[in-house]
Amino acid sequence: MAVDYSIRDGVAVIMLDNPPVNGLGHATRLGIVEGIGRANSDATVRAIVLIGAGKAFSGGADITEFNTPKATQEPTLLTVIKAVDGSAKPVVAAIHAVAMGGGLELALGAHYRVAAPDAQIALPEVKLGLLPGAGGTQRLPRAVGLETALNMIVSGTPVPSEQLAQSGLFDAFIQGDLLDAALSFARGAADRGGPYPKVRERRIEHANAEGFIQFARNSVAAVARHFPAPHKAIDAIEKGVKEGFERGLAFERECFLALVQTPESRALRHAFFGERAAGKIADVPSNTPVRKIEQIGIVGAGTMGGGIAMNFLNAKLPVTLLETKQDALDRGLATIRRNYEAQVKKGKLTQQQVEDRIALIRPTLSFTDLAQADLIIEAVFEELDVKQQVFRQLDEVAKPGAILASNTSTLDLNRIASFTKRPGDVIGMHFFSPANVMKLLEVVRGKETSKDVLASVMQLAKKIKKTAVVSGVCDGFIGNRMIEQYIRQALFMLEEGALPAQVDRAIEQFGFAMGPFRMSDLAGNDIGWAIRKRRYREQPELRYARVADRLCEMGRFGQKTGAGWYDYAPGKRDAIPSQAVDEMIVGFSAEQGVARREIGDEEIVERLVLSLVNEGAKILEEGIAAKASDIDMVYLTGYGFPLWRGGPMLYADTIGLFNVDRALRKYAAQPNGDAWQPAARIAGLAAANGRFNA
Ligand code: NAI
Repeated sequence: MAVDYSIRDGVAVIMLDNPPVNGLGHATRLGIVEGIGRANSDATVRAIVLIGAGKAFSGGADITEFNTPKATQEPTLLTVIKAVDGSAKPVVAAIHAVAMGGGLELALGAHYRVAAPDAQIALPEVKLGLLPGAGGTQRLPRAVGLETALNMIVSGTPVPSEQLAQSGLFDAFIQGDLLDAALSFARGAADRGGPYPKVRERRIEHANAEGFIQFARNSVAAVARHFPAPHKAIDAIEKGVKEGFERGLAFERECFLALVQTPESRALRHAFFGERAAGKIADVPSNTPVRKIEQIGIVGAGTMGGGIAMNFLNAKLPVTLLETKQDALDRGLATIRRNYEAQVKKGKLTQQQVEDRIALIRPTLSFTDLAQADLIIEAVFEELDVKQQVFRQLDEVAKPGAILASNTSTLDLNRIASFTKRPGDVIGMHFFSPANVMKLLEVVRGKETSKDVLASVMQLAKKIKKTAVVSGVCDGFIGNRMIEQYIRQALFMLEEGALPAQVDRAIEQFGFAMGPFRMSDLAGNDIGWAIRKRRYREQPELRYARVADRLCEMGRFGQKTGAGWYDYAPGKRDAIPSQAVDEMIVGFSAEQGVARREIGDEEIVERLVLSLVNEGAKILEEGIAAKASDIDMVYLTGYGFPLWRGGPMLYADTIGLFNVDRALRKYAAQPNGDAWQPAARIAGLAAANGRFNA
């Protein structure tokens, strides 16, 4: 039952009961409307209390109904709110814990609101590229004032109820039992008699509404360039300010329906659901028992080990940090401290918090100190022999049932697992650098990784606030395997006629945080060089533009050597186009007998993005990724793909797979075309008018 109806001493209690957060699904909406009707036709009832059971008043729309006919089936939320607002008997909304989105709009439709402390109040719709579509843009400014409302609607950020205590949103603040207090408030209201106040009838007071709205427009333009929703929300608020509630409400509806159709909203909703979907693994049911993970061990306190440790310290989990030599250990600890101190300087942490976190580290040089760890993550040099040595030792000392993880980015996890007598306990946890900052965690499922190990690591990932995506075992896993094709195209284009700054500018204009050459300079060009050298040995048939090798032969490894694809002024990170490099590139083309041609920005973007899409499709064909949205989550959270485009696979859906297929064939027929072997999956979907994200 989604709504419970009862009568307490002349007051009807309509209790939303749709766990986990009383989402306003169809049954809940229907239950509220029926409850209001019943209460109004029952002569023994004098007033009505609307309250939420369990963990929330209401978190808003029921996300399980998204994209189903039930979402728009009557009674819609607008109809529900109309019934509440139109009730002849007074309605009191009693708010605790969460009143968000539609939940807040519902409460705003009531005649009175009483609240418990510590409730989170928000209209977060902009985060899905939408605006509140059930009167939120009209009622909230009337309830809390123009400025507060506009800020809340445009940012979507939750505000604690206490902070709104003086705002006019609440009629009473309740300490103690919320329902009891709401009941007596409701009786008092009935005693005083009608007409009962309606938020819609309040006036918006502001000395200079027009000026403030213009100011808000300018601020939003600076931060939400690619997102239409915050702009539309301001338009809707303005409409209500200038033309009154009814017109504002109609315009809000119009904007909502238009926004639902925008690619930006589609992308944001895709990312929202993709994040949740990434945690669901087809053959690992959600009730799979998980192993307790309270003690963490980390082997290697280098760049990655230190960053990885910080994730657990931040989550208050103790970490035993192991190195081979005291000086390496000291260096690792010093780096962790330095990173935390930087956060103190920025005001993000207090000195005490830093000390508390660092106190959770137990530094050691001895493997036997890892005996109590529930999870041990290896982050030593990327060499199979070293990994072998470490995993043999871990197998010796780790307690039974401990999870053994490797942070390897390129090595075969199945081989690493085979170094132990417990391959079912071995898993990949591929963090991204800087590991304490980057959201993405690729969880690598080996052929023997057991389901409960996988489920445990996925759950742990949530605790340390990572977006975890499962990848099968292959070279580069999902993210780096795709980026390799992207880099390959970028290099071919240098050889064919482009220059680094042009390539970077084109793809940055498309929305990537950083183009391939600026990115390589940041990561270190020697890393790609080492990978290519391995490829030349292992896959000699695979062709690369060797211009990048030439750059490395010049010693230009990127920012760390003060020179890469770009020049860098000492101590600065600004990429300055390098005449020497540009000349080297042009000379290299000549050496190769390539007649350089003008390459348009459109071609640059198409080749870079479609190289990701094509490899992504192969990754799906091979089952390395289970679903297209997983690939998109990897690119949105780990590679700076523009959020408003939703990731490479959603982008491919947006331009249409027929068009993708044609473009791939076109490039396959051109010079360097052997780098394009169009994925069969794309041709198949194109022919069937299908999508990656169905
Ligand atoms: P690093 O060279 O900064 O750190 C490795 C550390 O492991 C060193 O401090 C070294 O003293 C220690 N070590 C070596 N052998 C050891 C042993 N037998 N026992 C204990 N400690 C030992 O390397 P980094 O960059 O931290 O990489 C570590 C792993 O993480 C590699 O597998 C790498 O592929 C992977 N990775 C690196 C990323 C990066 O951006 N640097 C990103 C994702 C994964």
